[in-house]
Amino acid sequence: MLHPRIIVAKNPEEVGKLAADLFETEIQKKPACVLGLATGSTPLPLYSELVAREKSGKIDFSKVRSANLDEYKGLTPDHEQSYFSFMRNNLFKHISIKPENTIIPSGISEDVEAMCEEYETKIEEWGGVDVQLLGIGHDGHIGFNEPCDHFPQKTHEVKLADMTIEANKRFFNSADEVPKAAVTMGIGTIMAAKKIIMLATGADKKEILHKTFWGSVTPQVPASILQFHPDVTVICDEAAYPF
Ligand code: F6R
Repeated sequence: MLHPRIIVAKNPEEVGKLAADLFETEIQKKPACVLGLATGSTPLPLYSELVAREKSGKIDFSKVRSANLDEYKGLTPDHEQSYFSFMRNNLFKHISIKPENTIIPSGISEDVEAMCEEYETKIEEWGGVDVQLLGIGHDGHIGFNEPCDHFPQKTHEVKLADMTIEANKRFFNSADEVPKAAVTMGIGTIMAAKKIIMLATGADKKEILHKTFWGSVTPQVPASILQFHPDVTVICDEAAYPF
């Protein structure tokens, strides 16, 4: 078992800045690097910081490629709660990344299996993910890999756990409007990334962070598999620090 490198920041803004430092270094080292990106509240300070850094000339996204972790099933790209909209509004439209260099699983594909295979193939063609950004769900999900009896390998369709629907209803008018399924990179897809950066902020993430990295490795806590990844950095704020 490996324990992650863990960096404790004062608050979510500082988490964003420290994470941006790591992304800046990576992009300087490899201008056409492949970033695995996440949605949710946690990466928002990071995304604002990345936008600011490109505006001030510190980062150049024009050659960067990105693959997102997941998308809600049934939401069209222009739906305001789709992860496609999230990425466009919070990052892509503010930076020089080329739209053809950003991929997100489709939530409306008629042949989900074929779409998932194409997604995996595209990432392979790009040479794999260099840095994968992750948040973490209260139930230990990464991407939308929910607790279950195995670790799903590849990009696939999933049913969302009640806890996830409850947590994400804040973005919709009610829990009923939250899609009940999603398409997500698999645990194998995530584990294949060369480097992983997990962000966690707020006291409500403290317990799951501890379970993930200091508990048993089990598909009931999907993120716990990260104990077997050789290059994981966790950046959390003081409230989420698990000790
Ligand atoms: C989003 C994703 C999810 C979130 C997780 C935490 O693309 O993959 O695993 O990272 O649900 O969400 P927040 O950051 O909103 O607490």
